[in-house]
Amino acid sequence: MIKAITGTKDILPEQISEWKRLEKIVEEKMSCFNYKEIRTPTFEETSLFSRGIGEATDIVSKEMYTFTDRSKTSITLKPEMTASVVRAFIEHKLSKKQNLHKLYYISSMYRQERPQAGRLREFHQFGAEAIGSDNPMLDAEMIELAYDILKSFGLKNLEVKINSLGVPSERESYKSELKKYLSDKFDSLSEDSKKRFETNILRIFDSKDERDIEIMDGAPKILDFLSDESLEHFEKVKNYLTGIGIEFKVDQKLVRGLDYYTNTTFEIVSGSVGSQSALCGGGRYNLLIEQLGGPPTPATGFAAGMERILLACQNEGCSQEDKSSLDVYLVRMEPAKTSDVFKIAAELRNNNLKTELDYLSRSVKAQMREANRLKARFVLFVGGEEFEKGYVVLKNMESGEQEDVKQDNLDAIINRLNLK
Ligand code: HAM
Repeated sequence: MIKAITGTKDILPEQISEWKRLEKIVEEKMSCFNYKEIRTPTFEETSLFSRGIGEATDIVSKEMYTFTDRSKTSITLKPEMTASVVRAFIEHKLSKKQNLHKLYYISSMYRQERPQAGRLREFHQFGAEAIGSDNPMLDAEMIELAYDILKSFGLKNLEVKINSLGVPSERESYKSELKKYLSDKFDSLSEDSKKRFETNILRIFDSKDERDIEIMDGAPKILDFLSDESLEHFEKVKNYLTGIGIEFKVDQKLVRGLDYYTNTTFEIVSGSVGSQSALCGGGRYNLLIEQLGGPPTPATGFAAGMERILLACQNEGCSQEDKSSLDVYLVRMEPAKTSDVFKIAAELRNNNLKTELDYLSRSVKAQMREANRLKARFVLFVGGEEFEKGYVVLKNMESGEQEDVKQDNLDAIINRLNLK
């Protein structure tokens, strides 16, 4: 039997209503904050991501789905959207159209990670990018927007963590201090962290190894290496958040797994999903646009993992029942022909009524069972003596009331059904 590829998942009809509920909230909130949707291709030239996200990151060094296509171009399935959005921003010269672009997306992403609960190889993100301003209000807005969506979806067990990684020169002096601090502790580090010591020292903060965690608890703190300007930006972000009542924790170990960040970084974590607890992450990336060949343009953004959000919601019991129901189920009885029922169904559907009928030659009893299973608001009996007299019978399934309606007066039925 052919099965879905490891780390990919089918989303079955019974799961769709929760996906749609989340997507609807995302769309409503994005529109409320005046973000416009952008869609970019599923794959891009590999160099976009290797240059944008950073060669030394886990994503680029070991997780990308990269292949050479028939024209010998190296292609990568998008592991995240920020680089793609920036590519589109540069390619379409969006900076010439207006000064600030507030964009959002909902899309699937691809990373070859080790699958576990809340970690997939094809997963879905929604996210937002505000390109064109260095205003700390926008960093706070990103956190507000993400938090608002998660809350509106029904999640409670949330924590907002924020940090600032400063600008590259500040980060470089921090990194060399960190290197000094870790040099005489090198032998005690885990194998993974030893590798990171050379390639991406900040990522040692993400280690789950207890000894590493203990060592990193005593490490120098990034905020001590930031300039007054960077600290002031950070202070403003915090003040904006406090001003709108969003509680947060400054976490100086929050380094994020992508290289493009400058200044503000943040994550919102859930206490309801086990180890893959980051529901969303983001931050400011003031240098990325220039680095990818565009005009120097400050920007900030975030992305959230939809599978993780749905999992958190399930674990917190905030999922909602699928309330969609049929307007009408047509029950065919002798002597009506299937073509009679098919014709009535066509007319009702032409009037946008959710209509279902029997395709399996079921008994009247079984058709009624099906109507109940589908939570039909009305059943329309087509057949029996009434049919011979030119009538069909409309039954309101909630009140049990029945009424005879002339077969050639479907408008009357449509009117009844439209009365919700
Ligand atoms: P990220 O932290 O790599 O950031 O991903 C954002 C979110 O996507 C994570 O917090 C997580 O919920 C979800 N996610 C990541 N990998 C997986 C996976 N393998 N399976 C399931 N969910 C996953 C970014 O992608 C940045 N582009 C965010 C950003 C936008 N920064 C600025 N603008």
